[in-house]
Amino acid sequence: MIVSNRGPLSFSYDTAGNAVAHRGAGGVVSSIGPLVRHTGARWMAAAMSDADREAAGAGTVDADGFRFRSLAVDPDAYRMAYEVISNGTLWFLHHGLWELARRPRFDRRWREAWDAYRAVNHAFARAIIDEAPEGAIVLVQDYHLALVGTWLAQERPDLRAVHFNHIPFCDPDAIRILPDDVAGELLAGMASHTSCGFHARRWARNFEACCRELWGWEPSTFVSALAPDHDDIATVAQSAECVAEGAKLDEAIAGRHMILRVDRIELSKNLLRGFLAYDDLLRSHREWHERVIFVALVYPSREGLPEYLAYRQEVETLAARINGDWAVPGWTPILLDTSDNFPRSVAALCRYDLLLVNPIRDGLNLVAKEGPILNQRHGVVGLSREAGAWEELGGVALVVNPFDVAGTSDVMAAALSMDDDDRAAHAAALRKLAAARAPRDWLDDQLAVARNAR
Ligand code: G6P
Repeated sequence: MIVSNRGPLSFSYDTAGNAVAHRGAGGVVSSIGPLVRHTGARWMAAAMSDADREAAGAGTVDADGFRFRSLAVDPDAYRMAYEVISNGTLWFLHHGLWELARRPRFDRRWREAWDAYRAVNHAFARAIIDEAPEGAIVLVQDYHLALVGTWLAQERPDLRAVHFNHIPFCDPDAIRILPDDVAGELLAGMASHTSCGFHARRWARNFEACCRELWGWEPSTFVSALAPDHDDIATVAQSAECVAEGAKLDEAIAGRHMILRVDRIELSKNLLRGFLAYDDLLRSHREWHERVIFVALVYPSREGLPEYLAYRQEVETLAARINGDWAVPGWTPILLDTSDNFPRSVAALCRYDLLLVNPIRDGLNLVAKEGPILNQRHGVVGLSREAGAWEELGGVALVVNPFDVAGTSDVMAAALSMDDDDRAAHAAALRKLAAARAPRDWLDDQLAVARNAR
């Protein structure tokens, strides 16, 4: 059984007012969906919209190869759990995004949201307790569902529940920001699973250290990095839409060098410092004027949070300022595209000269692996050492300290002027590292951890 916040199917209303199923969004679904389809495994996920909630009334359904159960909880409780706790608290905590002089503020309203988060986790646990077959392996995904194991351990000790956290995990100093009882409940909830998995050793070590500081002992953990589905992205790369998007990009780039980033508009992705570094490059390396374009394919996310709306505005304003400062007729230095267009992103990944992946902190970062697999131009990758993928690609990728704007500009200059032989060797070595694992390996690691538990 797989349990996650976003599921492999989501629903919307058609013109006749019927709830119809679509392919769900998100990295977890696109990576492991193909592996789980047609296996008979059950997948339980939260009803996030009204149409999802209506579909949830049907119980477990077989659709699009999935045995899917949408779980509806009170919409207000769900919204508080998702927006205030998952996105507004745990995401910020684990990615180190708070400016502590002002945020966070754990007031009474926040306490209500924590109760709602607990209630949502409890509702998931109840449904699993009622529906999981005897002895089933239950793969619980991500920080939205950190507490589920608490009730499973008490009421269904026959189950083997593994928790996997796809984002970073904060260190013991940072977890002290949470109210003590909440930190304790969070850690105990995760620790009550058979084992807790992370994409990188660093996040597993942080989780262990938090538990050690609190209890003097460490729960079981494992490290297993997810990987892109090579066949899936190769199929997209050959699709007619992708070929058409590639032709449009070729026209826009017109033979210049391409610096590329592909990201959600997300505070942890560090879009602003990426543009500031490029601005520095244009100031300090005039020889690149008119010879390079920074293509930023960045699509909106979580617009229910004011921080994200404000961030998007800052990103757009900064890109416009840089274009205003440096553009000349026939050359606009930044091509900022905020539409969510997957074929376009894949076409761009086939073509970059430098892929910039500079997050402040990132659980893994799949784009850093997709790029080297797809790229056809011996492209270079500049990768933040704060991304989980650094543990796999750091031996080859150019190191980016995400806070060092001048340093990031130097990485851009170095990548753009690397000679052909070095680029070819760099791209080949990165491709080998990026292709070393497949989504199947990640799923097998979780199953092995569950099976070896007894
Ligand atoms: C990123 C993270 C995932 C997380 C997802 C949630 O993709 O890597 O670990 O589950 O965000 O995004 P959502 O849009 O569902 O809030």
